[in-house]
This record gives sequence, C-alpha cells and structure tokens, in this order.
Amino acid sequence: MKDVLGFEGKTVVITGSASGMGAAATQLLLDLGAEVHALDVADTAAAVKQSVKVDLADPASIDAAVAKLPAKIDRLFHCAGVPGPPRFDALQTMLVNFVGLRHLTEAVVDRVVDGGAIAAITSVAGMGWQKNLENVQQLIEIEGYAEARDWCEAHPDVANGYLFSKQCIIYYTKLLAVRLLDRQVRVNCLSPSPTDTPMLPDFHAQAGEDFIDAHFRAPVGRNATAAEMAGPLVFLGSDLASFVSGQNLFVDFGYLASVETGSKVGLL
Ligand SMILES: NC(=O)c1ccc[n+]([C@@H]2O[C@H](COP(=O)([O-])OP(=O)(O)OC[C@H]3O[C@@H](n4cnc5c(N)ncnc54)[C@H](O)[C@@H]3O)[C@@H](O)[C@H]2O)c1
Repeated sequence: MKDVLGFEGKTVVITGSASGMGAAATQLLLDLGAEVHALDVADTAAAVKQSVKVDLADPASIDAAVAKLPAKIDRLFHCAGVPGPPRFDALQTMLVNFVGLRHLTEAVVDRVVDGGAIAAITSVAGMGWQKNLENVQQLIEIEGYAEARDWCEAHPDVANGYLFSKQCIIYYTKLLAVRLLDRQVRVNCLSPSPTDTPMLPDFHAQAGEDFIDAHFRAPVGRNATAAEMAGPLVFLGSDLASFVSGQNLFVDFGYLASVETGSKVGLL
C-alpha cells in the first residue's frame, strides 16, 4: 500500500518512549518505517535507532540528549509526563511536563525541517486553559529553564502541577504553531481522556477511581488503550494531517462533546 502517512524513512524524535502511549506510538512509528530516536528517563525496549536517557527535570540532561540527536528532524513527538503527587511534587511535575518539554522543543526546533511537524500529549485536564490564560501567559513569557523554574517555585498556588502544566502545553502549542507558519512546520497537541497505562493508577490514587470515572472517563464507559492514543498522535504528525496545525485534538470518545452540550460537568 502507498505510504499515505509518509513516515517511511523519516527521522522521528519521541519522548516518553519507554511506556504507555509513548511506547505504543514508538512501535507504530517503527512499523510505519520511521527511524526513531527515543528519549526517556527509562530504557526503551523497542528496536529504535537510538535510545537516549534524558531527565526532563534537568536542563543539563536535556542538552546532553539533544547533542546526540540528528541534525535534521522530520517529526518530533512529546509523550513523556508525570502525574503529580504523591510520587512527584508540583514543581517536578511542572518541570517534566512543561518546562522540560519546552526546553527540548526550543533546543531542536531549528533542526525540524521545513514542512515538518511537532505533536505533544497534553490532557483533558488542561481543558480550562482559557480561564487561566493570564497565568499561563505569565509563565510562557519567561524564556529560560532556570527562570521558569524560579517562577514556578515562587508561585506554587498557580504552578500547581498537573493541570497547569497541561494548560501551558496547549497554549504553547498554539503559539508555536503561529511562530512556525512561515516554515510550514505544523504544531499540534492531543488531549486524552483516561487511558489504561502505568500512569492511570496514580490518578486513581490521587482523586479516587470513582471520581475519575465519574468526571473524566470517556462517556462510552471505558478507558482508552495506549494504542488508541498513539494512532491519533501519529496521525497529527503524518502527511494525512498536512493542513492541521495549532489544534488541540481531544481523543475522548465524546467526553468534550458531553461537557459542551451539558450532560457532563468538566473543567471548561
Ligand atoms: N494515562 C492517562 O490516563 C493520561 C490521560 C491524559 C494525559 N496523559 C498524558 O499522556 C502522556 C503519556 O503518559 P502515559 O499515560 O503513557 O504514562 P506512562 O507513565 O506510561 O508514560 C510516561 C513516560 O514518561 C517518562 N518520563 C517520566 N518522567 C520523565 C522524565 N523526567 N524525563 C523523561 N521521561 C520521563 C516515563 O519514563 C514514561 O516512559 C503523559 O504526558 C500524560 O500526562 C495520560
């Protein structure tokens, strides 16, 4: 079959490749013929071109990883993330989920080819970003890693971890999409509803499984699988999405629609 997704021989960088959605996306990209450079704090099991250890909470570690990446990158996918307490405090969560993601993106953005694509996983938990725009803009306007970290430390009430980090990803995606229009680099993000990965038990422990199921689970009555997120994520980076940029794609089997039409209460 013709390579309609256009990944054959493409150079792809992906974070979070060791587990969950990132591991599923990595395998899919390999199956589609991409050369995959995998970044994760843990070992990536898939047969990638190279598996680079990186800690997104440490800018020196990100810079060292970037030095190992190719000079030309066709597609960049961000899947790494942490769920927040109790395993990760609010600051660590902000650093891994947003400040580190942005540092990595800015470090490689000039290597992303004209006509290339970037796609990041955010969350349905970020859906209230418009109501919090002033705070989101404040952090995003602070450019350096250390300066952003200082701001998060100084504003623990705002930089509260998971939700704020995911709101920031969404707005950063839109800003970057506009910034890269002249090079026709497409930038999108994806908002999953609860998905059966090693992260989901952390959300259940934080808020209670019944609460998560009642308020965030897809109204179709089950959690997604990692593969059901990997597919739409890879689509966003594919040739089939050649006119899609600046979008936050909800992959939630009707969750956002239920909130928008009033049968569910969400964070809008
Ligand atoms: N699982 C869900 O219900 C759900 C829902 C919405 C959004 N998300 C988001 O989806 C993305 C993928 O998560 P997942 O559910 O597959 O979870 P996961 O825990 O299976 O995968 C997360 C990956 O990120 C890596 N990682 C963690 N800390 C890191 C660090 N400091 N530096 C580099 N890599 C690090 C982990 O090693 C792991 O491979 C995350 O951004 C998560 O916030 C998950």
